[in-house]
Amino acid sequence: MNEALALSAAALGLLAWGLPKARRRLQLSRAKHRSLAGHARIAKRIAAQIPGYAYDEARFFAVDGAPGDVAARRRDGFFRLAALFEQRYPRGITLTAQAREGLSDLQFTGRYRVPFPFSPLVREHLKTGSFVARASGVTIEDIDGNVFHDLTGSYGVNVFGVDFYKDCMDEGFAAVREVGPILGSYLPCVADNVARLRAISGMDAVSFHMSGTEAVMQAVRLARYHTGRKKIVRFCGAYHGWWGDVQPGVGNPTAAEHTYTLKDMHADTLRALRTRRFVAGRWRPSRRL
Ligand SMILES: Cc1ncc(COP(=O)(O)O)c(C=O)c1O
Repeated sequence: MNEALALSAAALGLLAWGLPKARRRLQLSRAKHRSLAGHARIAKRIAAQIPGYAYDEARFFAVDGAPGDVAARRRDGFFRLAALFEQRYPRGITLTAQAREGLSDLQFTGRYRVPFPFSPLVREHLKTGSFVARASGVTIEDIDGNVFHDLTGSYGVNVFGVDFYKDCMDEGFAAVREVGPILGSYLPCVADNVARLRAISGMDAVSFHMSGTEAVMQAVRLARYHTGRKKIVRFCGAYHGWWGDVQPGVGNPTAAEHTYTLKDMHADTLRALRTRRFVAGRWRPSRRL
């Protein structure tokens, strides 16, 4: 009888210890983004099982089982577009092909422009140029003289329009011309910039970086140091630079096991953030301070 009691007490103890843990684990699973991006390890395992393959011309235009006449119309359209590109972007295509060999970014963007089974045919026939000669107002002009509307504002960075930044560049160059490329010391205008950035952001201090990737790396490192926590959260769809910890999953050879990809703007995520020890969760200054 006593043994039975001891066993039940042990089982209860185990339950009391295990239940909250299991609940928190479940909460985290529910907060993860539904896509494979939210499940980096599974994504990697699946990706490793998918063989590389490419469609030949016949399959390319009828991969969805389209009837012959539809596939033929698609094929015609594709090659008409290819001819148009060749006629419109001769210099851009030539310079891009020459530069690609020594420019890994171009190799990457060229290869992944479309899903991989379609990539070889698209790369062979739908060639585009990657070089721009000038930009003005809301348009950019390529080296063949074609003018395009810059619909994305250079991926969103040109919020004030190209001309505003051209003026800033002129002003900036005039301010630094006398000093040139010094390293380590500051130009006096940096002090003013710090004061203005602090006023705008409401933050105590400013740190300057040469890229967003670098700024995120430093911010995460500082947060990890000050909280004593390792785990970070990112939200699916957002880009935080090319640093491995903010790009877990396929294509990243390191585990990045401390990075979770959770659903954006979701109550499940807020619940997980509240109860787990994430860097960005409840702030508890570390004793290391
Ligand atoms: C939120 C965010 N973090 C980081 C980065 C990375 O910046 P960079 O391309 O300068 O490394 C970006 C760039 O788009 C970004 O939008």
